[in-house]
Amino acid sequence: MTHREGKLRAAPDADEEADPPEPGQPGLRLGVIGCAGIAWRRTLPAAVAEPSVRLVAVASRDGDKAARFAREFGCSAVHGYEELLRRDDIEAVYIPLPVALHAEWIEAALRAGKHVLAEKPLAPDAATAARLVDLAHASRLLLVENYMFTHHSQHRAVRRLLTEGVVGEPRSFAAAFTIPRLPPHDIRNRRELGGGALLDVAGYPIRAAELFLGDGLEVVGSVLRHDPDTVVDTGGAALLRSPSGVIAQLTFGIDDAYHSSYEIRGSTGRLSLGRAFTPPPDHRPLVRVEGPDGARDHLLAADDQFARVLGAFARGVRAGTGELPSGTGHRVADIVPHARLVDAVRRSAR
Ligand SMILES: NC(=O)c1ccc[n+]([C@@H]2O[C@H](COP(=O)([O-])OP(=O)(O)OC[C@H]3O[C@@H](n4cnc5c(N)ncnc54)[C@H](OP(=O)(O)O)[C@@H]3O)[C@@H](O)[C@H]2O)c1
Repeated sequence: MTHREGKLRAAPDADEEADPPEPGQPGLRLGVIGCAGIAWRRTLPAAVAEPSVRLVAVASRDGDKAARFAREFGCSAVHGYEELLRRDDIEAVYIPLPVALHAEWIEAALRAGKHVLAEKPLAPDAATAARLVDLAHASRLLLVENYMFTHHSQHRAVRRLLTEGVVGEPRSFAAAFTIPRLPPHDIRNRRELGGGALLDVAGYPIRAAELFLGDGLEVVGSVLRHDPDTVVDTGGAALLRSPSGVIAQLTFGIDDAYHSSYEIRGSTGRLSLGRAFTPPPDHRPLVRVEGPDGARDHLLAADDQFARVLGAFARGVRAGTGELPSGTGHRVADIVPHARLVDAVRRSAR
């Protein structure tokens, strides 16, 4: 069965109101720049199922590849990215290109009058990110960086538990995102395409620290390891501090066993969450809280973060405010401060 045969609604979420499109409002007409693996596996299946989005066309440098994606997801195939940007039946684009190409194509899309959902990291450095955010603002277009994990309802559930005081006063935050080594030709192992662990995976634990510890984080120190063959950084760690003195210990890597989790330790307890960054849509998250009276597990409802981010993007475009709807876990205003933290990890690395 191809994806166009069933327009399925994302799994209901116990923690947040579902976000159906406004009655009578047509789906956001979306085009895709680059027939990427992440688009095939995750984003396009979610786009086809998401009522607030209408997938119009996919573009590739290779016409046959575009045709294969178009057949699978029931849309038009376009040969060449510029060609897709010339279409006036497309309002917004999703850009899952290698990092080094993000800025060029985000800028081209904004100049063509399209709203943009760009894969993470939006840009290789904070200065470029700031330039693109300013351009989107001046063009009255929405530009979103696709840290889709922030849209998963499991983090709101964690926040509620913290507000209830299950760990007492937060003292430290630890997060890790590491993935196994990919073949040498993979974009993550190619320096000229913006490869490396800092740009590919460090953003997840950094973004998670921002989510829970708030604005004003400072990088105190960091370590990066390099691979002499691929010449990219393959992993590292960073130590950050919040203005109130909470410590964040973050680990990341692209040559490691798979690991995706965070933990918040406080004055009286400890809260941990596994599969924090890439839970599949049918996964039921488990939050473990350990305190003076023992351990308690909280089993949460499954949620589809891929559908969530697309729904939030579509609603943000329709709202016309240049920002994502509130309560969706991520703001356009987060893009540049986040990129500055990534820059600071690079600068301070030993
Ligand atoms: N948010 C998430 O959860 C998540 C997860 C995984 C990846 N990502 C991000 O998504 C982006 C793509 O990752 P991916 O793993 O899907 O990569 P990928 O499968 O290698 O896809 C990248 C696409 O970029 C296009 N491209 C254009 N110029 C290229 C070049 N010189 N070399 C290679 N590809 C080129 C290709 O599309 P055409 O051949 O069709 O032109 C290619 O299919 C990255 O920014 C990554 O960080 C995000």
